[in-house]
Amino acid sequence: QTGFTGLDYGFVNTASTQSAITYIDGEQGILRYRGYPIEELAGKSTFLEVAWLLIYGELPTADQLGEFDEKIRHHTLLHEDLKRFFSSLPHTAHPMSVLSSAVSALSTYYEDSSDPHDPDHVELTTVRLLAKLPVIAAYAHKKSIGQAFLYPDNSMNFVDNFLKLNFGNMAEPYTTDPVLSKALDRLLILHEDHEQNASTSTVRLVGSTGANLYASISAGIQALSGPLHGGANEAVLQMLARIRDSGEGVGKFVDRVKRKEDGVKLMGFGHRVYKNYDPRARLVKESADEVLAGLGVNDPLLDLAKELEQIALEDDYFKERRLYPNVDFYTGVIYKAMGFPTRMFTVLFAIGRLPGWMAHWREMNLDPQTKIGRPQQLYIGEAERHYPSAG
Ligand code: SDX
Repeated sequence: QTGFTGLDYGFVNTASTQSAITYIDGEQGILRYRGYPIEELAGKSTFLEVAWLLIYGELPTADQLGEFDEKIRHHTLLHEDLKRFFSSLPHTAHPMSVLSSAVSALSTYYEDSSDPHDPDHVELTTVRLLAKLPVIAAYAHKKSIGQAFLYPDNSMNFVDNFLKLNFGNMAEPYTTDPVLSKALDRLLILHEDHEQNASTSTVRLVGSTGANLYASISAGIQALSGPLHGGANEAVLQMLARIRDSGEGVGKFVDRVKRKEDGVKLMGFGHRVYKNYDPRARLVKESADEVLAGLGVNDPLLDLAKELEQIALEDDYFKERRLYPNVDFYTGVIYKAMGFPTRMFTVLFAIGRLPGWMAHWREMNLDPQTKIGRPQQLYIGEAERHYPSAG
């Protein structure tokens, strides 16, 4: 085939999907979940209320939300045998690998109730994953720091229970800092969905084969772990720390990025869809100062991030390529101030994204028109040719 450009290849390989869940206008920097602007949801709603909205399509009544919350609280326990799964892993294991593996292991306890074509099984699995993923995540964190696992506390709300599982310990009582709790709930809302991103497309593709929701979510977690996707929030902190420790200064680092030295990128910048400021990044940046001040944390990496953003936004190289901060640019500084280790940042992204992944999987699964995913290919290899004859 002659005359095809990279764009054509890109076009040919992109199967289009229709969905009613999330709307993005990349040029205008607009993001809406089921029609509601992200700015309104982040300012007024809660993670669980938005999870219901994404999954069921409407904001829940107070009774519906209360029942949803109650169900989730009563599914937080992991099977005791599953807790032993963690002891087979090295304490150095990356929490995203632990998360994906543990979700696969979780599915082995529910093989009699995870039929993707049984609506009751789908409802039960939806609640089980919302309830248990945060517990698995906290256990991955505790495992990495050699601390004992705590049991979930069903008297606490979703976010406070998660914070206690991460930062509580067996030796003393734990009380949640309301600044921490509110900030984390808001950050989770900002991550809940983002239409056909790489990990959501993975969840839909795996689900389209008839694989169950656990298998699809486990695959989505692995897709999210890549540094060009959800792994970018961890890579941003590593980038900021390298700039600080090297003493090279922001200007010199930006020059290296522009020269594409060793493939170095400005992590947390750029986006496949947003060619304007990511509305989520704007909201995260707005709350960064407030959260750090509320937690009494003064982190020079936040000032470094702001300096980096300032220089990049004024530089033609980034303007010409329409590169702006994305959701990952400022989140890591806040997660660090909360006390999470850098390698837990993408796990927090996964907990936030779980409702969106499940909403898309259910939308795909319930659609009678759904066929098994099979991305198109444009063959650019050799024409037919024959094996040399003997002699
Ligand atoms: C997420 O899809 C989603 O919605 C994802 C997400 C979600 O909520 O699910 O929003 C979450 O994954 C956000 C993105 C996190 N990733 C990063 O921050 C990693 C750094 N960003 C880049 O790798 C990049 O911007 C991507 C992967 C995010 C987007 O890549 P594109 O749109 O394919 O851009 P491109 O590779 O075609 O680049 C266009 C130009 C190139 O330069 P030229 O070849 O034209 O000279 O821009 C340059 C690129 O080199 N470029 C960058 C850059 N991103 C693009 N240069 C420096 N630093 C960057 N970050």
